[in-house]
Amino acid sequence: MIKLNNVSKVFFPHTPNEVLALNNINLHIKPGDFITVIGSNGAGKTTLLKVISGAETVNEGRLTLAGKDITACPEHERAADIGRIDQNPLAGTAAEMTIEENLALAFLRGKKRGLGQAVNESRRQCFRQALAETRLGLEKRLQAPVGTLSGGQRQALALVMATLALPKLLLLDEHTAALDPQAARQIMALTAHLVQTKNLTTVMITHNMEHALRFGNRLIMMHRGRIILDLAGEEKAQLTVPQLIEKFSAASGEDFADDRVLLETVHQNNVVA
Ligand SMILES: Nc1ncnc2c1ncn2[C@@H]1O[C@H](COP(=O)(O)OP(=O)(O)OP(=O)(O)O)[C@@H](O)[C@H]1O
Ligand SMILES: [Mg+2]
Repeated sequence: MIKLNNVSKVFFPHTPNEVLALNNINLHIKPGDFITVIGSNGAGKTTLLKVISGAETVNEGRLTLAGKDITACPEHERAADIGRIDQNPLAGTAAEMTIEENLALAFLRGKKRGLGQAVNESRRQCFRQALAETRLGLEKRLQAPVGTLSGGQRQALALVMATLALPKLLLLDEHTAALDPQAARQIMALTAHLVQTKNLTTVMITHNMEHALRFGNRLIMMHRGRIILDLAGEEKAQLTVPQLIEKFSAASGEDFADDRVLLETVHQNNVVA
């Protein structure tokens, strides 16, 4: 499906501020993979998704999608095949447009047709069906401006938009991190539902180790621009959070350094009452 070969990304090269955000990454994302990505602050997780989506160019290495070299392909050309959602609910949707206009834009992504043709009655029916899957009643609000929705509703809409045209790859960058706990739970349930029913190949960054273990068939851990762990199948299924933290220390030679990850881990395991 997607292959990254010897991919490196340097910010501010040849300056005192030089950052090696991705250090010789080799990754083969197979069709149907649901990969969760976890790692310390600044490990390169977001940069990894950005070079895959084309939001950032690479300094070295090559990317191929279904056998085609896309290394030089700009983001808007990859958008028909690759959907990306980040943690900001305001980023994935257009506030001043209605729900159905947003969906029409998503539907036309990568297609060469005008917006007018998109919103007809049969298209509306298809939008209603897709929105009903969110279980948030959005299908009854097609004409509502997106700016009137809550953060959770906007992320749900962003998910529906990103998956409407069945992308070859769905990229999620801590897409529940900015939501309250209940909305985050709803969005994770919707994510799992869409990934499963549409059989979407997905890469999801999370700072929640429980989620990293519970969701998906494969788990990648990043540290200082490298992939230091890549676990799948039974090995992943059997793993507990403390074992994962241990594996991190063994592979990186350091303690895990992300306050959000550790706080949630402590909270979930009731280490502090
Ligand atoms: N546009 C940019 N310009 C300069 N440096 C950047 C840029 N984007 C990322 N970096 C740097 O690259 C490194 C990797 O950043 P990245 O955002 O990919 O990390 P991350 O793993 O997503 O971290 P977090 O868990 O905090 O989201 C960091 O040192 C970061 O400061
Ligand atoms: Mg990030």
